[in-house]
Amino acid sequence: MKYRYLAKSAWKHLRSGLKRPYMAMLETTLMCNMFCGYCIFGEEGKFNDLDFRARRERIFQRIDELAAMGVFALSFSGGEPLLNPNTVDYIAYASGKGLWTSMPTNGLLIRKYADGVARLDMLEVSIDSLNPARFARRRGLNGLPKILDNLEYVLKKRKPFATQINAAVNMENLYDLPELAEFAKQRDLVLAPEAVHNVMRGGKLLPDAELHGEEIDQVESYLGELRAAYPKNVRFYSHYYQFYRQGGFGPQFPCRHPSKLISVKPDGSVHLPCAFMTLFKSQAPLEEIFALAEVKSIISQETTLWDFCKGCKIGCPYEVSAFANSSRLALESGLNFLRIFPGKKAGGSTAAAKSPGVGVDSA
Ligand SMILES: C[S@@+](CC[C@H](N)C(=O)[O-])C[C@H]1O[C@@H](n2cnc3c(N)ncnc32)[C@H](O)[C@@H]1O
Ligand code: SF4
Ligand code: SF4
Repeated sequence: MKYRYLAKSAWKHLRSGLKRPYMAMLETTLMCNMFCGYCIFGEEGKFNDLDFRARRERIFQRIDELAAMGVFALSFSGGEPLLNPNTVDYIAYASGKGLWTSMPTNGLLIRKYADGVARLDMLEVSIDSLNPARFARRRGLNGLPKILDNLEYVLKKRKPFATQINAAVNMENLYDLPELAEFAKQRDLVLAPEAVHNVMRGGKLLPDAELHGEEIDQVESYLGELRAAYPKNVRFYSHYYQFYRQGGFGPQFPCRHPSKLISVKPDGSVHLPCAFMTLFKSQAPLEEIFALAEVKSIISQETTLWDFCKGCKIGCPYEVSAFANSSRLALESGLNFLRIFPGKKAGGSTAAAKSPGVGVDSA
């Protein structure tokens, strides 16, 4: 991210009374080459959107519009974002403009696009277990050795602390986390565990994959211990588990995706209220879209939400909303960003002790 861009954007936000969106998520393709059991994109052949190849110029224009609006951060997502060969060009373009860029990826193609992903401010590689058999069972592909090999290669080209391991967690892989935390510590990476939650798309849900009752408590307390054992390398929002227990977004914790996080689809269209449900879509320029009465009306409903939002606990809208809803969580997010994680020092952590072969962190 460029500091000049940051300062100019901050000024635009202040002048607008902090009403502007400050993040965007570009789904570069909805296709995927993995089959994760908990993910809506994991169903083979469900999303075939090859026309994204023709939309290159439209996406560059959208990035220009995001920069003109003063959006600080752009996340490239999917499906698997690197299945779109244009993605690395979008990353270079956005980062050249000064936006802070990030991208989650399953890691299968990061070696092929190593120079491109080296430009990301934050590269997030999704690895939810270092046990190859469990990884294959959860992610639908025996890809762990290749992904680890790709990761080691890419790490030679970028600052390690700007690389994160994303781990979707449930009871099946909870006790694999200390090994992942140790892996992260040895390479100076960040481990970001996130509880598996149901993700709705266009009103459709996969079979229930969420944590329930005591499982939520178990995951929360185990993660707390893990963070205490690995204070520099494990990050998650403590409040997320309270939010999860309370059933996700609702009037007590509104979803700010409609007003703060712009969803851009592979064809360049902007969708509202969110990336997961479309009540409005348009190819018009961003400033025009956000001036429309229809869009203002959708945004005005984000405090009460819609029926389809019931139970929604999706991670990226949660992070954006945490920032907007609570100054304490905004501070926690800032500290997370600087890798100053709350949590006490290690001292016989059960999280580390429960994991065979992984010692208690002495850092
Ligand atoms: C939807 S994927 C898209 C990017 C890329 N394909 C990947 O796997 O990183 C983004 C992140 O969401 C996580 N994820 C997918 N479904 C999830 C779920 N139901 N609960 C929690 N995290 C989930 C993935 O593990 C990944 O870290
Ligand atoms: S989590 Fe990522 S890799 Fe797995 S199915 Fe979903 S989009 Fe594909
Ligand atoms: S809570 Fe937010 S992200 Fe979830 S479905 Fe509703 S508008 Fe979309």
